Amino acid sequence: MPRTLVTAALPYANGPVHIGHLAGAYIPSDIYVRFLRANGEDVKFICGSDEHGVPITLRARKEGITPQEVVDKYHTIIKESFAAFGISFDIYHRTSEKIHHETAAAFFSTLYDKKIFTEEESEQYYDEEAKMFLADRYIVGTCPNCGNTNAYGDQCEKCGKSLSPSELINPHSQLSGKPPVLKKTKHWYLPLDTMQKDWLDTWIRSHEGDWKNNVFGQCKSWLDQGLQPRAVTRDLDWGVPVPLAEATGKVLYVWFDAPIGYISATKALFANTNDPNGWEKYWKDKDTRLLHFIGKDNIVFHCIIFPAMLKAHGEFILPENVPANEFLNLEGDKISTSRNWAVWLHEYLEEFPGKQDVLRYTLTATAPETKDNDFTWKDFQARNNSELVAILGNFVNRTLVLTQKYYNGKVPAHHELKDDDKACIQAMKSIPEKISENILNFRFRDALFELMNLARIGNKYLAENEPWKIQSTNPERVETVLYISLEITAYLAQLMEPFLPFTSATLLKMLDLEPKKWKDFLGKQILRPGHQLREPALLFEKIEDAVIDVQLQKLEKSKAMNQLSNATVTPSKPSTSFDDFQKMDLRVGTIVSAERVPKTDKLLKLTIDTGIDTRTVVSGIAADYSPENIIGQQVTILVNLEPRKIKGIESQGMILMAENAAGELAFVAPVKNMDNGGTIR
Ligand code: MF3
Ligand code: ZN
Repeated sequence: MPRTLVTAALPYANGPVHIGHLAGAYIPSDIYVRFLRANGEDVKFICGSDEHGVPITLRARKEGITPQEVVDKYHTIIKESFAAFGISFDIYHRTSEKIHHETAAAFFSTLYDKKIFTEEESEQYYDEEAKMFLADRYIVGTCPNCGNTNAYGDQCEKCGKSLSPSELINPHSQLSGKPPVLKKTKHWYLPLDTMQKDWLDTWIRSHEGDWKNNVFGQCKSWLDQGLQPRAVTRDLDWGVPVPLAEATGKVLYVWFDAPIGYISATKALFANTNDPNGWEKYWKDKDTRLLHFIGKDNIVFHCIIFPAMLKAHGEFILPENVPANEFLNLEGDKISTSRNWAVWLHEYLEEFPGKQDVLRYTLTATAPETKDNDFTWKDFQARNNSELVAILGNFVNRTLVLTQKYYNGKVPAHHELKDDDKACIQAMKSIPEKISENILNFRFRDALFELMNLARIGNKYLAENEPWKIQSTNPERVETVLYISLEITAYLAQLMEPFLPFTSATLLKMLDLEPKKWKDFLGKQILRPGHQLREPALLFEKIEDAVIDVQLQKLEKSKAMNQLSNATVTPSKPSTSFDDFQKMDLRVGTIVSAERVPKTDKLLKLTIDTGIDTRTVVSGIAADYSPENIIGQQVTILVNLEPRKIKGIESQGMILMAENAAGELAFVAPVKNMDNGGTIR
């Protein structure tokens, strides 16, 4: 029997997961694995948290906690989100576990002992203040490719180019903000250049046509540029320590240790069973098919670097395929954690309880399989309302309700079959084949479309036969029509499991059926006449505009917050003399009364106790403050400003306001209550 090991990219435990993660790697892999299981195949599904690397330590710094606390927090959140969405890993492991550290260190040692690595001493950027080498994301600067001033030492997130720190223009430390100095340090390199010549080039090029175009294309462009040796160690204190006496203070590069995480997780899966070596056949037996599901930013690591490591090690098989997806955008914009432009899974679960399958459905139907794609809330709503509710839900519901009504929920027997009945039976034969073929070729959108076609066929069949109209005149025909409709429903319930596992379980329960292996029902009749069904309930419900509007408003808010934080600060004015500053007489005052200036939007007429006197000031703050809320508010007032007439009112002075980029105003006042008339200098 074919044996398959499916891995899904280990997400960084430096933040929660969002729809882009689901659509990129986890839903496709889950569909694939559920499909293999439904076909009785031997498959293991491996994932876990990637808990090393600079993004984690930077996050820890930002939140003022330790890296271990960061990964503990997010590992739990991520693990729970995946479980709630029915991503059916056999194990969700983590790379901070002991078994992983041991496995990764041993892997390095094997390569070291086999003299695979080249060693090189080179000058690298160092932060003298933080006393640290600035690996990867610790260093930022201007991208030589696109001019982005916030490019990282390993990659520019704007243009996607992968970089080395020395390529950055105007490099500076993330820690101190200062330009770094160069300092000598020794590292170990994987000689991808010689490996390319020896076998890697041939091996990758042999997959042309069988790997997806987007995947092969990216690999080819790497090969065409010529691979360079890659450092597999870093001067950092968070990670798997390099197992060499001379390498104190160094850890394995996160992209060296993380993919080994697939191996350690497989080991962990078998560790406490009576077959602790059971993991080996999944990694070492030539009959195992190894498949890596990832997003496109991971292609080079899974198609080139990790295979290079595996081959150099010598004991392991290489991936048969790497079905990477492109990126999912959100409402026309790149998903971004830092800009909070995302639909977070843990938030979705709270806001759409019980609707995991709706998201699974939408993300599969719009999966970025061959090119980047866009998730929009309107599309989500439309997929729910006009596909899940109107086609699948409607068909199933009409079938089950009529069966309840006419036969008390007992499956009727059919009579003589007409052409359109036979066409339905034919569809129940041909559609599963198409679903299988699409899934096996990683075309999950097409597979889902075929599944929905079966529901469409059922819907049309009911609409054309209108059993509800002929029950009194032709009850035999109604029995046949409902029998066929119930059979389609049962097929749908079984076939939808890889895509919509929750709905499948609900529907199977209503039908009082167990999930079956596909070979046990394909081409056969699932329901026996006389089989008693349970009470039907609606599978899906309509999502109203108001619900979608809430989500859109949430995104609007993110956008506004970003504009605020991105807005450029007004440049400073030319310098002024201390004497000029001294000419201004600034005092503490208190607002004693306030009213709107009639026929204006912005102006308030304020009466201010300045300590010196009580006077009138007209101030343009009505958009931010209403008169009744500011009585008693202390302010800073420029008392020696020449009086001016504003809307016919004499304004005697000016109060000081702070303004942000969005144009919001706030009083500038002493932080504790001061006597009116106190000077400000
Ligand atoms: N953490 C990486 C990311 O989120 C993926 C690591 S995949 C593995 O991009 F192979 F290294 F595990
Ligand atoms: Zn760039």
